[in-house]
Amino acid sequence: MDMSKILITGGAGFIGSNMAEAFLKKGYAINILDNFSTGNIKNIETIKNNVSFFEGDICDPSIVSSAMKGCDFVFHLAALRSVPKSFGDPTGYEKINVIGTIVLLEEALKNKIKKFVLASSSSVYGDNVSLPLKEEYYPDPISPYAISKLNAEVYCRMYFKNFGLPTVSLRYFNVFGPRQSLENKYAVVIPKFIQSLNLNESPPIYGDGKQSRDFTFVENVIAAHESVLKSNKANGKVFNAACGNRTTVNELVQKLNKLIKKDIKPKYLDPRPGDVLHTQASIEQIQKYTDFKPQTTFEQGLQKTVNWFLKHQDYLIARS
Ligand SMILES: NC(=O)c1ccc[n+]([C@@H]2O[C@H](COP(=O)([O-])OP(=O)(O)OC[C@H]3O[C@@H](n4cnc5c(N)ncnc54)[C@H](O)[C@@H]3O)[C@@H](O)[C@H]2O)c1
Repeated sequence: MDMSKILITGGAGFIGSNMAEAFLKKGYAINILDNFSTGNIKNIETIKNNVSFFEGDICDPSIVSSAMKGCDFVFHLAALRSVPKSFGDPTGYEKINVIGTIVLLEEALKNKIKKFVLASSSSVYGDNVSLPLKEEYYPDPISPYAISKLNAEVYCRMYFKNFGLPTVSLRYFNVFGPRQSLENKYAVVIPKFIQSLNLNESPPIYGDGKQSRDFTFVENVIAAHESVLKSNKANGKVFNAACGNRTTVNELVQKLNKLIKKDIKPKYLDPRPGDVLHTQASIEQIQKYTDFKPQTTFEQGLQKTVNWFLKHQDYLIARS
């Protein structure tokens, strides 16, 4: 059988490994390119014999060329992805997230890739106060990370406009789910809170907890990729990939306490620079141009995530 092949960059990471697993199940052949900077071989333990793995850096044209050979589609997820860390390394973020994307786009042109999907981020909106956030709003990134994602989007659009490469940028909103990694200092909120509650410790909240997010279960991001793959009308566009709801961080603590059967109060710390107050996506555009529908509700996703982490306690140990 002639299977379509997808190159997933960052496929050893949290979202990329879920993506690889899901698209394998859908019958695609998968190549993964990853340098394990934040990814982990254990994320692809169950699929490693069924994918072709390329270890290397997305900024290296020769490894990118080998990894993209024979591919029909590219899902570009490899990136440095921490808002707080990016303030300490703005040039590094620009290099990997922008130059790396250009190296991939150049190779995608040569290989006549039929769809190049960039993992962008809701952070490009910055502190935009009119919710829900619409793609037409003027972006106002307030961290080096967010700026690098916006620049990568602009490159994707340019390659479509000038060279006809079918690119689409998806602005992911706070993705969560199995295998999301915990890091000591800059842990992301959902795995961090599950870890804290599991250890009977107070989950740390930066700010008053009234900040809210359009938390998006990873399966919904996978559904967005699948919808975009099938739609030619999506080419050259930028879409929010989210559910269109929002939950405050205080509510999140309550919901997790319930699911883990605990009753532990959070501790409140100073807000962090670069963190925006609220995010909530409008998903009108992606629904207009593709058949996207969120598959899993926030509550269902949270339940699945908690179940998964409690079964895989090794993932609840922080890495530095
Ligand atoms: N998790 C979220 O909520 C979220 C939100 C918005 C956007 N995103 C974007 O989604 C993508 C995946 O994020 P994630 O949460 O799975 O993070 P992750 O850190 O688990 O995955 C990123 C992967 O990219 C790899 N990588 C990094 N630099 C590389 C390089 N130079 N060459 C090759 N591989 C490299 C890492 O080793 C890792 O496996 C990123 O582009 C991120 O910016 C994530």
